[in-house]
Amino acid sequence: MNTAHLRFPCFLGRRVHLGVTGSVAAYKSLELLRLLVDAHISVGVTLTPSAQRFVGAESFRALGAETVDTAMFTDHQADDPFAHLTPGRSAKALVIAPATANIIAKMAHGIADDMLSTQALAFRGPVVIAPAMNPAMWSAPATKANWRTLLERGAVGVGPAPGPVACGDTGEGRLAPVEDIFAQVLRALSPKDLAGKTVLVTLGPTREAWDAVRFLSNPSSGLMGACLAVSAWMRGAEVHVVAGPTALEFPPGVSVTRVTTAREMLAAATELWPAADMACCTAAVCDFRPLPPATGTERKLKKRDLDGELVIRLEPNPDILRTLGESKREGQILIGFAAETDDLLAQARLKLAEKRLDLIVANRVGVPGSGFDSSTNTVTVLDRTGRVEQWPELPKTEVAWRIWDLLQHL
Ligand code: CTP
Repeated sequence: MNTAHLRFPCFLGRRVHLGVTGSVAAYKSLELLRLLVDAHISVGVTLTPSAQRFVGAESFRALGAETVDTAMFTDHQADDPFAHLTPGRSAKALVIAPATANIIAKMAHGIADDMLSTQALAFRGPVVIAPAMNPAMWSAPATKANWRTLLERGAVGVGPAPGPVACGDTGEGRLAPVEDIFAQVLRALSPKDLAGKTVLVTLGPTREAWDAVRFLSNPSSGLMGACLAVSAWMRGAEVHVVAGPTALEFPPGVSVTRVTTAREMLAAATELWPAADMACCTAAVCDFRPLPPATGTERKLKKRDLDGELVIRLEPNPDILRTLGESKREGQILIGFAAETDDLLAQARLKLAEKRLDLIVANRVGVPGSGFDSSTNTVTVLDRTGRVEQWPELPKTEVAWRIWDLLQHL
């Protein structure tokens, strides 16, 4: 899965503790470790004795785990006698992935009979649990009751996902996608300054068909919008995304409406807007759509039927951002983007006023390190009070994070 919209640089130096229990899916915790380490998060690991039947401590050390606990009591004098308390004192989140029915039961009942269950009992911060087990074990009344207990105490559950499991059965029991677990860990580490807010984000390109197999579009990847959506969700907001065609996937906590055309995007966005506190329109909407040919868009145009040239007439598409601005109510915040090749500031000021925006993020297109299909952006931000900020080239994740910061002062 593409994780560009999860690569936030602001977690540098944070520490999390990763507990791994005995499941065939234990090898996937190495992938989770890699994502955490890539995000510059320091990770301590505990492997239960059963987990070590599936994966070894050396693999975790090699991939960057700072400590790997494998037992409560060892014969090595150098070992920390208080390692069972260390995660509770130094880690900002505890993630257990994969979590067996056994660890879920032990955590629900406060049983501390090995290193991981003892560390979990002594841990007071946010806990993320990703179960993996046979579907019959997952649906057992005892597991259900234990799971409910943990969720009621504030643990965040990720998955399990439906599908085939190792033993050949099919049902709920697969470990959730590692990217979803990773996103929940980042969320656990984030401030919750957008809690209680509902945020709408439009993103990606639109496609406007001119026959059954051809369309007009643009190279937008949707990355900037996805970074805004994911960071708002991590910071506590309820987030609704209206996405044009894009390969990006979102954590399960983000609601996503997938659309193709500008008119579909408008319909979805205008339905969500009245209940939103903020909207951020990042979509690269096609401003025009082809007028359907006489044969209709259901048929493929044949070259042999043309006279050597094809003339396509275009008609204007609705401006989604402008439409939201026209129905903006007191207290709602509307953020737009401006992609410009010339006159960046003047064009952005014009759009800010014309579309009744509170904030506009302007960037040059057609230059390296900015705009379409780039993982970074160089932007100038203007707000309705006249403030102008020019930011250096930054990862789009960081641009998104800073935009939400800036809104606190608007
Ligand atoms: N936008 C929109 N619907 C459209 C066109 C644009 O919602 N049909 C939004 C974009 O998501 C962006 C802002 O309007 O937030 C500005 O888009 P941009 O393409 O820079 O400018 P336009 O308003 O389309 O004007 P122009 O193409 O003439 O620069």
